[in-house]
Amino acid sequence: MKAFVHEYGELKIKDMNEPFADHGQVAVSIKFAGLNRRDVAVPGRRGDEAGALILGSDGAGVIESIGEGVSEFSIGDEVIINPSLGWYENSEAPPKQFDILGMPDNGTFTESVVLPAEQIEKKPEHLSWDEAGVLALSGLTGYRALFTKGNLQAGDTLFMPGAGSGVATYLIQFAKKAGARVIVTSRSEAKRKQALELGADRALDTNSSWPEELKEETIDIVIDSVGQATFNRSLEVLEKGGRFVTFGATTEDAVELNLRKFFYGQYKLIGSTMGSQEELRDMLTYITEHQIHPVVDQSFSLDEAQSAMEYLSESKQFGKVALRISE
Ligand SMILES: NC(=O)c1ccc[n+]([C@@H]2O[C@H](COP(=O)([O-])OP(=O)(O)OC[C@H]3O[C@@H](n4cnc5c(N)ncnc54)[C@H](OP(=O)(O)O)[C@@H]3O)[C@@H](O)[C@H]2O)c1
Repeated sequence: MKAFVHEYGELKIKDMNEPFADHGQVAVSIKFAGLNRRDVAVPGRRGDEAGALILGSDGAGVIESIGEGVSEFSIGDEVIINPSLGWYENSEAPPKQFDILGMPDNGTFTESVVLPAEQIEKKPEHLSWDEAGVLALSGLTGYRALFTKGNLQAGDTLFMPGAGSGVATYLIQFAKKAGARVIVTSRSEAKRKQALELGADRALDTNSSWPEELKEETIDIVIDSVGQATFNRSLEVLEKGGRFVTFGATTEDAVELNLRKFFYGQYKLIGSTMGSQEELRDMLTYITEHQIHPVVDQSFSLDEAQSAMEYLSESKQFGKVALRISE
């Protein structure tokens, strides 16, 4: 089967052996896969010495075979993959056995993937295949960051820099449906317009003066996954005592923190990452109840996977980038 792999420092399409569904496992024929920033980072983390690994965490498709002992699925079921491996019940932090699909295990940028049945969920019926393919990782991350960790309440004002990010496009929709006011920033005028169309109440230029722009607002919660480029600016506009949730650092990881300002402000800094199976199922219910659709910026064919990775690494997208694997 055809797959997009990282092998000895190179990214390429390679013919790989089709995996076999063993006891408790199912094989999924992938229709669409979704790109995440992690896929762009994985090659650098693996270096030049590692053998072939199929990249990709997100995907949706059809069950093509079933191992012994699996009763909850049938051949032909339309499903999505939960890339949050080994994390089932809600907990304050992921369990020790937690991993993310697509490193160290082979991922979704391929025609067929085999996984334990508990990593598979029914595809929400209101989603098209490309929407289903890009949903799980970002939707789950956003859901946990906003609700479980951020404890967003109706009437809260959420501030979020980097409106073009895949996760941000879920967060805008989730927070609006929960009755929050949503203020975002983007460096791009076109993306600011798209964020407003998606439901954001205000969209500021990332390069504007936020304290000036937001002097009439009370920011209850900040979600900042841009990292070093915006961390301190975001903290500056958060109301004293407010919550600051972070799950990413698209720019750099390290930030300087003025401790005195921080403790006088009595801020709450909260880390989050991915989420449990329980939260994924809650997220699927939430998007079904509210008829929320992922924002798919663009789809590339599997053969164009490298161009898709470059497009994402340049932050050109508004929302998610998909890989079309089979129609
Ligand atoms: N921990 C987890 O489980 C988890 C899960 C998912 C994602 N993440 C992380 O969360 C982050 C967001 O991921 P994503 O895939 O949704 O989005 P992304 O593709 O990393 O986009 C991030 C956004 O950041 C903004 N940005 C980039 N460089 C910037 C700069 N120099 N100054 C200001 N803004 C800048 C851009 O917004 P504009 O173009 O609109 O300005 C861009 O759209 C990533 O770091 C990712 O690794 C973590």
